[in-house]
Amino acid sequence: MKQSLRVRIAVTLGAVVSLIFILSSVTLVAGIHYHFNMYQLESGGAAGGAADWSSHLERAVMQAIGWTLLGSILIVVPVSMWLGKKLAGPLVRMKYSAEMMARGQLGTRTEVQGEDELAALGLALNQLAEQLQEQERLRIAMTENIAHELRTPLTTLKSHLSALRDGIWQPSPERYRVCLDEIGRLIGLVSDLEDLNELESGDFGLSYTTVRVGELLERCAELLSPAYAEKGVGLQTEPVDDGLVMRADPDRMRQVLVNLLSNALKATPAGGKVVMSARPNNGHICFVVKDTGAGITKEDLPFIFERFYRGDKSRNRKTGGRGIGLAIVKALVQAHQGEVWAVSGDGPEAGSEFVVVIPQ
Ligand SMILES: Nc1ncnc2c1ncn2[C@@H]1O[C@H](COP(=O)(O)OP(=O)(O)OP(=O)(O)O)[C@@H](O)[C@H]1O
Ligand SMILES: [Mg+2]
Repeated sequence: MKQSLRVRIAVTLGAVVSLIFILSSVTLVAGIHYHFNMYQLESGGAAGGAADWSSHLERAVMQAIGWTLLGSILIVVPVSMWLGKKLAGPLVRMKYSAEMMARGQLGTRTEVQGEDELAALGLALNQLAEQLQEQERLRIAMTENIAHELRTPLTTLKSHLSALRDGIWQPSPERYRVCLDEIGRLIGLVSDLEDLNELESGDFGLSYTTVRVGELLERCAELLSPAYAEKGVGLQTEPVDDGLVMRADPDRMRQVLVNLLSNALKATPAGGKVVMSARPNNGHICFVVKDTGAGITKEDLPFIFERFYRGDKSRNRKTGGRGIGLAIVKALVQAHQGEVWAVSGDGPEAGSEFVVVIPQ
């Protein structure tokens, strides 16, 4: 960003001062000349007294000051009006935008002109508006998703209890089991919300130790291999250099990879394959979990890390997913000062790739 506003103000004020200085010098010299000529004419070439001299000099100086004052006013007034308009215009526009945003109109943007500090302030204000709009969108989406999550168990409970109360159904262990399952679902939802809140508020400490990356991958593969074997999906761990270590919280890192591996398992049909790898890169460890599953559509891809976002809602309801696994992954990776993202082709067997980069 250019620092041209500061330069412009300095140059403008400098120019004004110089102009005034030049004007005063010119008028002073011209005035003195004029009065000396007059003095010579009046005295008819004869030498005059000291009193005449001083009176003419005085008048010359007074006239010069008068002209300088008039010229200065003529220069300073339009220049300062122009400068004031130049500075105040964008500030007034930004104040208006900020007021509109405070009233909830988050679609408001301020017009940005040029590349100076005022333009930078305008851009920052527009970015703030975009962030607020995004937060608002997330808040609405989350409320919708939670309402969606609550509706099914509550509707099931209501219909079961009504049928039992009205004698349509006789109480049986099976009926009670269904009700208890739905209550369990509600309790699970509340505890997920609590966990997420704790993670996203950053209100938890990481227990950093030296973690052997190879061991971490093996441990995660061990945890998931029974589920993979049961579904008939291959799980391959790429070999990692024995000495490769990193500073991290091993339990939290395991949680990250296990979440990614279970998502990959859910998305991959029997006969498919999931590959997990880790390699050092520029002072970071780059973990990749790549599957040959369903892939993620372009529409879903920007949202999958949001709380309660699920791609295929009906399929995930059956598999019990609530759409918080990746939100937890993101919170944990960010707590490690790392980054996570997903890459996916769009198609039935496109497969997905999740990349986690953590400082070593
Ligand atoms: N490997 C993957 N392949 C295809 N889609 C995926 C993959 N991983 C995540 N997704 C999509 O992202 C969504 C969000 O994933 P996330 O882990 O947050 O929730 P979930 O797996 O549905 O439920 P939970 O993890 O809470 O049990 C999933 O519903 C799915 O649509
Ligand atoms: Mg998940």
